[in-house]
Parts: sequence; structure tokens; C-alpha cells
Amino acid sequence: MPHIDLLDALPKTRRNVAAPRSASAENRAAARRYGQEYFDGNREQGYGGYRYDGRWQPVARRIAAHYGLRAGDRVLDVGCAKGFLARDLAAAVPGLVVIGLDISEYALRNGHTDMQGRLVRGGADRLPFADGSFACVLAINVLHNLERAACQQGLHELARVVSRPQHIYVQVDAYRDETERTLFENWVLTALTYGTPDFWLALFAETGYQGDYNWTIIEADPAWTELPANLAAGTGTTKGD
Ligand SMILES: C[S@@+](CC[C@H](N)C(=O)[O-])C[C@H]1O[C@@H](n2cnc3c(N)ncnc32)[C@H](O)[C@@H]1O
Repeated sequence: MPHIDLLDALPKTRRNVAAPRSASAENRAAARRYGQEYFDGNREQGYGGYRYDGRWQPVARRIAAHYGLRAGDRVLDVGCAKGFLARDLAAAVPGLVVIGLDISEYALRNGHTDMQGRLVRGGADRLPFADGSFACVLAINVLHNLERAACQQGLHELARVVSRPQHIYVQVDAYRDETERTLFENWVLTALTYGTPDFWLALFAETGYQGDYNWTIIEADPAWTELPANLAAGTGTTKGD
């Protein structure tokens, strides 16, 4: 169960982690509908416009190399959003069969055109696939969006549908100290289950998770000497959303 960053080639996104965004219950509720507001609305309620720009291409190559993916293998991207990483994986390894699954009808309807017929609507905790039917399964920045029991069920499901339990990559939101927790809770809109890396390691152990993992952590801008009390003018950087 190695800790590894397979997203290290993803450009870092600079964020304004000012309090008003996720302090609002309205923004959280809008984001959690995973509709137009979350993907293509304003930055207060989600991505602020999620369009294909090729940023996942180096990540796709890294994942393909790490898991030794070859033509004919099947890969599942759970929480695939618009299928951008899934599309880039299929392009990186000709003959690879990549399926994307997401709860969002909006994201799938507006998914990458190259992925037509390969995007499936469903929940991470109830995967509509046979046991051992994928060579590799990814769940990047999605499992923290489930309640704790469903999150555990999701981990079981990833292990059920993959042929080798080590060939899973999970990345989840986490914070390492109180400063990061404050930043986190003032920025993140959709997470329902989150905590420190130790919290996640305990959850992984409870489910017998054997795959790879990494954390998405919202960090304070290194230029800050001290955190503004109200975070009103804060900026932060992290990968993923
Ligand atoms: C932060 S986005 C991550 C998208 C993509 N994996 C990435 O890293 O860019 C979270 C995604 O999880 C999806 N999602 C949320 N809850 C889900 C669930 N219970 N089952 C499947 N997908 C879910 C959302 O619709 C959204 O596309």
C-alpha cells in the first residue's frame, strides 16, 4: 500500500482560499448537486469552468507506466467528471479500454467527445461492474465526497472490480495540521469525509485497502509569514479540486 503521488505532473492551481467561498451553505449545497454550477458555474461554487486543456496528459502517461498498462487492458476512472483523464489514458496507450464513472449526469452529458459510449453514470459505492473486471482502477479526488460508511464501501468496491488489489490509485482530501484544516474548511465545498493522513490510513486499514494512495492538501502560500485571522485575502495552492 505505497504512498505515491501519481499526479505530480499536474500543474499546480493557484487559489484564493478566502473564507466567503465555502463558508456559505448555499455554495456547498449548489456544489453538491454536481451540476452546471459545480463544473461550469462560478468559482464560488466549484471549478469555475472545467474545459479540456490537456493538463492530464502527463498524468495519464505516468499512470500507464506505473501500472504497466497495455493494449487490451481495461481501466476504470471512478469520479471521472467529464472524462478528461480517461480520454488521455486511452490516447496514451492505444488499445487500452478506459471507462469513466461519475455520479454527475451533467458532467457525463458534457463529457469529452472522444469518450462517447465509455462514460457511465453511477455511485462509487455501488460500481455496476463484475468482480475483477479491470486491470487498474483510479479514484482521484472523489471518495471524500461520500459519507464515511459509503466511503468505506467505495474502497471495498474498488478492490472488488480490480483484478490485482495493488493496482488501485486513490487520492483524497486531507490536512496535516490545524492551519491546513482551517484553510481546508474555508475552501472545500463537497467533502463529507476527511481528516489527517492518519485518519485515512486507519480507514484504509479497516477496509483492507491494498492500493496506492495520496492526499490532496490545500497549503498556505509560502509567501505568508502568518495566516490572516479571517483568511480574507488568502491565497493557496494545491493540485486537483
Ligand atoms: C473534485 S471532482 C474530481 C474529478 C476528477 N477525478 C479529477 O480529479 O479531476 C469530484 C468528482 O466526483 C464525482 N462524485 C461525487 N460523488 C460521487 C459518487 N458518490 N460517486 C461517483 N462520483 C462522485 C463528482 O461528480 C465529480 O466529478
